[in-house]
Amino acid sequence: MIIAVDGPTASGKGTIAKALAAHFALPHLDTGLLYRAVGRQVQLNGGNPDDPAEALAACDFPEGLLEDDILRSEEVGGYASRVSVHPQVRRALYERQRAFARQEGGAVLDGRDIGTVIAPEAQVKLFVTASVATRARRRWLEMTGRGIAVELAAIEADIAARDERDMNRADAPLIAAPGAVLLDTTTLGPDEAIAAAIEAVLARFD
Ligand code: DC
Repeated sequence: MIIAVDGPTASGKGTIAKALAAHFALPHLDTGLLYRAVGRQVQLNGGNPDDPAEALAACDFPEGLLEDDILRSEEVGGYASRVSVHPQVRRALYERQRAFARQEGGAVLDGRDIGTVIAPEAQVKLFVTASVATRARRRWLEMTGRGIAVELAAIEADIAARDERDMNRADAPLIAAPGAVLLDTTTLGPDEAIAAAIEAVLARFD
C-alpha cells in the first residue's frame, strides 16, 4: 500500500505521515528533506537558489547532509522552496522518491506532489491543510520551544510567501490530487489529526 500525504508547510502532514507509517508498519520518506538538502547545499556552495544550474549542481549533496538538524531551520526551508521551483531539480530527485514509493510492501511519503507526480497510483491520498494563522502559530511554538527568538508575524509572512511559491510554480504545484481526502487540521490537536488520518486510510478499504 502506498500512502501519499501532501500539504503545505506546518499543516501537520509530517506528524501524520510518521504516525501512519508506524501504525501500518510502513517505511516513511519525508520528501521535503530532500529539497531542504538541495537548498542547504546551494547555500554551502555560495550559490544562488534561483539559478537552475546552480540548484541542479546542489542535487549532488552528500548523504550525511540529510542528518543535519540545520535542514529544519526556516532559512533552509526558504532555500528549499526556491530550488524546488526548477524542473531540473524536481527531475533529479524524482527517481529516488519513485523507488521509495515502489518498494515491496508499500510506503508512506509526504510532500507536495506525491499524489500528483511521484505516486499517482497511491491507494490512499491525503491532502492536509490548516489556516495560515494556525500553521504560523504551530511553527512559532515549535521554534520558541527550541529557544529560537522569532516574531509570530514574521513567521506568518514567511509561510504565506512559501505557500504562494509552492502553489503557483509551473512544475508540480502544490494542489490536492484527484480523489485525495482533505484533512483540515486547523482545529485538531495532533492525536485527533492522526486518528482522523488512520480512519481515512481504513475507510478506503471498507
Ligand atoms: O515540507 P517542507 O517544508 O520540508 O518542504 C520544503 C520545501 O520543499 C517546500 O517549500 C517545497 C519543497 N517541496 C517540494 O517542492 N516537493 C515536495 N515533494 C516536498 C517539498
